[in-house]
Amino acid sequence: MWNTNNMGNKLKHIGVLTSGGDAPGMNAAIRAVVRACTHYNIKVSGISEGYQGLIDNELRGMDARSVAHIINRGGTILKSARCQNFRTKEGRQKAHENLKKNNIDALVVIGGDGSFTGASIFSSEFNIPVIGVPGTIDNDIYGTDFTIGYDTALNCVVEAMDRIRDTATSHNRLFFIECMGRDSGFIALNAGIAGGATEILIPEDNKSIDDLVDKLKSSRASNKTSNIVLVAEGDQLGDTFKLAEKTEKLLPEYSIRVSVLGHIQRGGNPSCADRVLASRLGVSAVEQLLAGHSGIMVGVQNSSVTTVSLHDAISRKPGIDTDLVHVADIVSL
Ligand code: F6P
Repeated sequence: MWNTNNMGNKLKHIGVLTSGGDAPGMNAAIRAVVRACTHYNIKVSGISEGYQGLIDNELRGMDARSVAHIINRGGTILKSARCQNFRTKEGRQKAHENLKKNNIDALVVIGGDGSFTGASIFSSEFNIPVIGVPGTIDNDIYGTDFTIGYDTALNCVVEAMDRIRDTATSHNRLFFIECMGRDSGFIALNAGIAGGATEILIPEDNKSIDDLVDKLKSSRASNKTSNIVLVAEGDQLGDTFKLAEKTEKLLPEYSIRVSVLGHIQRGGNPSCADRVLASRLGVSAVEQLLAGHSGIMVGVQNSSVTTVSLHDAISRKPGIDTDLVHVADIVSL
């Protein structure tokens, strides 16, 4: 058993929380953190509803059995929140008092960049060791190839596209499907390729409505009878319903429908890939704390578990793979 501890055995009690938008696989990450703590003889407490639970002292002791039968479940048993109070010094002060009261030495924060910003500020203000675990369906975090929940969300979008394709082909229709991605097009670009979209609109790209219309015209000229345009919600062409209306005015020959997938993309049983990723990152987060590290995020790059500073994870943005954009253009003919 790996029980050396560079923190000089100071690490006795870890708190774990999930914060921001939930993502499938968060439960698998909680389970991995709790079981790694059990393995290394560290006490662990689950904090409810993200940072708000820390402010309200909503904590519960956890053990290997309290995380049984959750690896397969979407959502988060700890619940999640975007906590305004934690943005204030008073809120963080209260959270720190509760950490002290409960003798918690370190925190594992499972969430996205907003959650890591809070973690980073809190860690420097009160000298609390913190490790971030990337959990968001958007995959928009620097320092990891994949975030927990992304693979499951992708498969959900592709399944929805497959279903819509059935009805689109039956009626010779053009469908605008809106998927999540407030600031990023990872879901749209990858699901768009896998689901056979004619056009993919993402915030990182600058496609105009004229580009879209040209693509749809050439699609019709090549005898395509139905089309799917996959739109990331953050695309700069704006509201998907309005975009569909504008397109219908410019291309009246098309019968157009819109489908907004919404929060179904955030639910459901995590995929195998998300369960494995969450398990690896949860264990690694505890091991990083044991090794005396703080202020970092664990991630996976080129199939290996890696770390990046929370500062970089927050301040830098992963770029869209231009090779994928190139492939999307070719296969969507
Ligand atoms: O989890 C990230 C995300 O899915 C974004 O793509 C989306 O814009 C946002 O969450 C919506 O979340 P909520 O409805 O919880 O504010």
